[in-house]
Amino acid sequence: MKLFLDTANVKEIEHINKWGVIDGITTNQKIFLAEKGVDFKQRVLEIVGMTKGPVSIELTKKSVADMVKEAETYHSWSPERIAIKVAMSGDGLGLEVINILHQKGIRINATCMMNFAQGLLAAKAGADYVSLFYRRAMDSGLDPVEEIRRLRYFIDDSKLPSEIIAGSIREVGDVCNALAAGAHIPTIPYKIFIQMPFHQKSEDTIAEFDKSWLEFLKNK
Ligand code: E4P
Repeated sequence: MKLFLDTANVKEIEHINKWGVIDGITTNQKIFLAEKGVDFKQRVLEIVGMTKGPVSIELTKKSVADMVKEAETYHSWSPERIAIKVAMSGDGLGLEVINILHQKGIRINATCMMNFAQGLLAAKAGADYVSLFYRRAMDSGLDPVEEIRRLRYFIDDSKLPSEIIAGSIREVGDVCNALAAGAHIPTIPYKIFIQMPFHQKSEDTIAEFDKSWLEFLKNK
């Protein structure tokens, strides 16, 4: 099991890095929009420098030739660390790109997927990571747990090397449910990550133990 952080924010990465639990970073265009005018390449390389594991960045071009060129450029920035996010578009162009990049040995994160059918195509075409968007799938009326469960069964049964990333996480419970359904990697936004160590009963227990310790010291 691995945990990815879904951000391009340096402060957020610095904070969670201290916990020693981050195995990779995922970003997308919306995540970069929140970074307000940073230089894209500079920030990507900064993230590569401060983390371990894959750093996923998403293609923005629309034709197969342009997407492949864009992917080769991003890949050249850090061949060992960059994973190229390719969106699963309904016209099948994303799959074409995945197939080409796979043959070039470029690491691929097939993204924007909602269901089992999309995931199985991406895995078969050679995606290293297949990203199912947990809450967005729910928004469209799907049960993401069932989609992930079926996809994991298919990947294991076919002995494919793809790992399932559960994206679009909006609650701590989504992380737990996605992992229990068979996702290999939840990619977790910072605001959810920082909620994960908290449980009210733990806080109460710590307070109770602190009180006992003070009484113990007083009775010495
Ligand atoms: C995953 O790789 C995506 O970056 C992310 O999880 C998308 O989810 P959201 O836009 O629904 O938050």
